[in-house]
Amino acid sequence: MSPMNILLVGSGGREHALAWKIAASPLTSRLVMAPGNPGMAGLGEVRNVKATDVPGLVALAREVEADLVVIGPEVAVEAGLADALDEAEISCFGPVAQAGQLESSKAFTKAFCDRHGLPTGGYVIAEEAVAAKAALDRFAPPYVIKADGLAAGKGVVIAQDRAAAEAAIDDALGGRFGAAGARVVIEEYLEGEIGSLFALCDGERSILFGAAQDHKRAYDGEQGPNTGGMGTYSPAPVFTPQLIDQVRTRLAEPAFAGIAAEGAPYRGVLFVELMATKDGPKLVEFNVRFGDPECQVLMLRLESDIVPYLLACATGMLDEVPPPVWSRDAAICVVLAARGYPEAPETGSIIRGADQDFGPDVVVFHAGTSQDEDGTLRAAGGRVLNVCARGATLAEARDKAYAAIAKIDWPEGFHRTDIGWRALST
Ligand code: GLY
Repeated sequence: MSPMNILLVGSGGREHALAWKIAASPLTSRLVMAPGNPGMAGLGEVRNVKATDVPGLVALAREVEADLVVIGPEVAVEAGLADALDEAEISCFGPVAQAGQLESSKAFTKAFCDRHGLPTGGYVIAEEAVAAKAALDRFAPPYVIKADGLAAGKGVVIAQDRAAAEAAIDDALGGRFGAAGARVVIEEYLEGEIGSLFALCDGERSILFGAAQDHKRAYDGEQGPNTGGMGTYSPAPVFTPQLIDQVRTRLAEPAFAGIAAEGAPYRGVLFVELMATKDGPKLVEFNVRFGDPECQVLMLRLESDIVPYLLACATGMLDEVPPPVWSRDAAICVVLAARGYPEAPETGSIIRGADQDFGPDVVVFHAGTSQDEDGTLRAAGGRVLNVCARGATLAEARDKAYAAIAKIDWPEGFHRTDIGWRALST
């Protein structure tokens, strides 16, 4: 394999972690990132083209003679970037928009599960509030209300009582998420432990590609609103060999076979978010990209070069790469978020000390930052920084991450102090 030009699409912590790993590969001769972020700038060339600007990204891929385009975020999948790159005959890691419906429409995914026999919770799809509220009769609290489309991790409400469930229905159908909330899915609440498992597919063959556990609630003790994820760790004890095998055979492989049978062979990474219930794993959601912040801990633990895996998915060659090698170390990621996240994050505040050297086992990825001309770093999103660390044990990794956080001067930010608690308490 000869060194290649790679265009990475996206601008969050997930993409910073991917860029960090791709830049370290001897197979990368040129790394271009669009639109990227200030933290990624030191790893290659950052170009200001949005992740949803499909013609702009195809033109950029041509201009930089990209041998491979890696799609980070789901919005680029939904916009049809892989379809356009196929047309331009440029290799792409990331599924076409039809396969992307596994994330871009929760209603599609529920019906897909029915069609192909994948285990998931019971559900009702509704397009108007009266029907949606009536459907609550079929479920017991807590009620799970989801906007059908992409809502940046904010479209899911777990309502403890009927009044809160009805308010969430009014909110979604009333336009809070725009077209993404034109329908809602009301789901059975699944009891168990949540997990994130990743599988790669080249259109035909698939392999597992790591697992992690996320903390979705904003505050310590699993309190507060649902978020895109406030912290992750890997490995996660919930993933016993038996559970991994069940997720592979009952969810990941049937999904790849099902979407191929429907005419959209899957190329890229599938993120299976599952609940480990007493009856085995049940699908919570599919996502058609790496998890954020799951990707960050996977990249810290991945000892193999990532580039051959990305290329193999894009070119139908997964049978030619060896199984990935994972470090025995544990990795943790703690998200630093702007005050007010997820509802109304306050942006613009100054962050000091994020780019200092925290030692060999700590990496800080940027997720939502901007930089003034004089180098001043500012919060520019909800989730702003990802402080990640590796250690021989999860406790060691956690201590290193929280020691680094203590050195970052950002009074307007907040973070959870209990990332990894499930694993650390067993
Ligand atoms: N951390 C969950 C997600 O990426 O959707």
